Amino acid sequence: MATTSYSVLLPLLFYFTLLCPLIDGAQLIVANNCTESVWPGILGSSGRPTPRNGGFHLGSGEEAILDVPEKWSGRIWGRQHCAFNNTGHGSCLTGDCAGKLHCRGKSGNPPATVIEMTLGSSSSPLHFYDVSLVDGFNLPVSMKPIGGGIGCGVAACDVDLNFCCPSALELKIGGKVIGCKSACLVTKSAKHCCTGKFADPKACKPTLSAHIFKAICPRAYSYAYDDSGSLHTCRASRYLITFCPTK
Ligand SMILES: *[C@@H]1O[C@H](CO)[C@@H](O)[C@H](O)[C@H]1NC(C)=O
Ligand SMILES: *[C@@H]1O[C@H](CO)[C@@H](O)[C@H](O)[C@H]1NC(C)=O
Repeated sequence: MATTSYSVLLPLLFYFTLLCPLIDGAQLIVANNCTESVWPGILGSSGRPTPRNGGFHLGSGEEAILDVPEKWSGRIWGRQHCAFNNTGHGSCLTGDCAGKLHCRGKSGNPPATVIEMTLGSSSSPLHFYDVSLVDGFNLPVSMKPIGGGIGCGVAACDVDLNFCCPSALELKIGGKVIGCKSACLVTKSAKHCCTGKFADPKACKPTLSAHIFKAICPRAYSYAYDDSGSLHTCRASRYLITFCPTK
């Protein structure tokens, strides 16, 4: 008996080691496929490091590699239409983090499309990731595993929601829609933000904006208690995050 199970187990073990190399953490390749510059903002959850001091410039067609340690969790979003002086002070029209190039612990101003992730470790290797429109939308983004095998989904909102944003939710600068707010951001009410007595999936129902977001970007979270189908899991050790991906 024992010999049979070893002969089955050993090749299996070898196979899994090849597929899932035991590396610490993950590599995030951030690519800008938009026609304009994007300034990615990065915020590590408390106690987690923040690569690149939380922000950098990424020209159209450029990519950058971020190495994050195992068990990292945090969020990444794109900032647009930014201007900074040579000490990194300035502002962005969307996703601005306290007027700094390097977000260093500050999150971005909504509306902004946000990538969220919680990485596993060598003992618990699954990585969890999603694209969230809970804070509204500013630009299309996707997070796609490189390898990882079956069941590794693509998290994305790859349509430009600014073109179909209800007028009451638009963030407009000089006649151009540069962001689409969530109902929570516009009304700040507990009912729309799923807070207070609405902090419960039974009590908090999707708003009109959440329904629109979900219809256009079904692979992204549209509101706080959206179904868990938008959350993806994978063991891949590399992920491609693309701003303005093509569908
Ligand atoms: C950059 O902007 C900040 C904030 O407006 C200002 O305090 C600083 O002097 C500026 N630095 C340079 C080199 O212009
Ligand atoms: C980037 O955009 C070009 C054209 O707009 C497209 O051909 C290409 O596939 C895009 N790349 C990604 C990763 O989406």
